[in-house]
Amino acid sequence: MIERTHVQGGESRECGLRVYDILLKKRQGRELSKDEIDFMIAGFTAGDIPDYQMSAWLMAIFFQGMSSKEAYNMTKAMTYSGETPDFLGIGGIKVDKHSTGGVGDKTTLVLAPLVAACGVQTVKMSGRGLGHTGGTLDKLESIPGFRTNLSKEEFLECINTVGIVIMGQTDSMVPADRKIYALRDVTATADSVPLIAASICSKKLAFGADIIVFDVKVGKGAFMKSKRDALRLAELMVGIITKEGKQGAAVISDMNQPLGHAVGNSLEVMEALDVLRGKGPEDLKSLCISLGALTLLLAGKAETPEEAELTLLNALEAGAALNKFADFITAQGGDIRVIETPTAILPIAKYQKEILSTRSGYITEVDAERIGMASFILGAGRRTKDDIIDPSVGVIVHKKIGDKIEQGEPLVTLYTNKQDTFESVARLIMESYKFSEDRPDIPGLIKQVVRG
Ligand code: URA
Repeated sequence: MIERTHVQGGESRECGLRVYDILLKKRQGRELSKDEIDFMIAGFTAGDIPDYQMSAWLMAIFFQGMSSKEAYNMTKAMTYSGETPDFLGIGGIKVDKHSTGGVGDKTTLVLAPLVAACGVQTVKMSGRGLGHTGGTLDKLESIPGFRTNLSKEEFLECINTVGIVIMGQTDSMVPADRKIYALRDVTATADSVPLIAASICSKKLAFGADIIVFDVKVGKGAFMKSKRDALRLAELMVGIITKEGKQGAAVISDMNQPLGHAVGNSLEVMEALDVLRGKGPEDLKSLCISLGALTLLLAGKAETPEEAELTLLNALEAGAALNKFADFITAQGGDIRVIETPTAILPIAKYQKEILSTRSGYITEVDAERIGMASFILGAGRRTKDDIIDPSVGVIVHKKIGDKIEQGEPLVTLYTNKQDTFESVARLIMESYKFSEDRPDIPGLIKQVVRG
């Protein structure tokens, strides 16, 4: 690791590097060396480089970008800024899947048990929802008793007996990312492709999986609004983890409309259970099969995409994936009755209200960001990291792009415990939908696959 003494204001006693010079160099668009990047990350993590200088650096990166070499070096410096888990005692190939965040994205809940049923273990450090996007930990924690803060012994027990462990980020892991992310959030530097790539990849590499599969969302409800940016992010992340000796691939998937029908924590768990039972929405199932097929191919569990897909479909139909999900929930303390009687076990909001269509025609748009905001206002999301969310609320989207609707038919059902939010949320829902007399083309879910 970096052994250099910083002094407040960002000068180094040993190597003569100065924060000012590094800021200027980046501002001028010149490539930073590994030493300079290490110096910035270590200095900021240790508290020697103040927020104002780090903010200036992040803004310079935002405007000048980073070469793939710089992004790789930044990722490495962040990865080893804290502790990394000790995977001694775990055999077999470990996969981690990462989604860049979307609305109604409950893919992990299906994918982890699905690939585990096909012999590939999942070790995953997941996040919580922020703003209009949801987080896997919140969804899982809507199952009574489910725990994401596991001791080392519990972690090993889960992975060795079930083949799945999903937990939250600990304070000691990747502290550089936590500090930088907080600063990016308030300095308008969150949506920089190299900064996002370094942030995501540092957490993935720190957690130590052998295979990393990225689901890069693109569209209205995603971080990446354009296919060009999504592709740049996908290629950069796959490049970084491949350079680090891991196997990786990315899928670029549509997030203009919500994935599946359910948006909101317990509602999404119910929908994931439907897919694990071989039912559920086609788009969600198809994304899980695509990501699962890439995983099985990278893990050497299938020779061709067709063979991989067949193996996954068999695991769904035979109930093996559902059984894995049951074992996973039990191992992390969740109430196993959620499998047989989800509606009796999961929290469900007190009030339900249908929002009816004011016109007939075909649906041409369902703005994922607005639907995510609606769920957020109902109480499913948090404004700041410390907000408390309501796991029982959300939106069921009945009509999606290409569907025909008659005036008076329900577009969505809102689930809420606060009736006073109905009016503003109903307005947001109406703004999310666009209609036409003619049947529109239905956008393809998978836009591109990027392999390492
Ligand atoms: N998710 C992350 O972990 N980091 C980012 O910068 C964006 C999304």
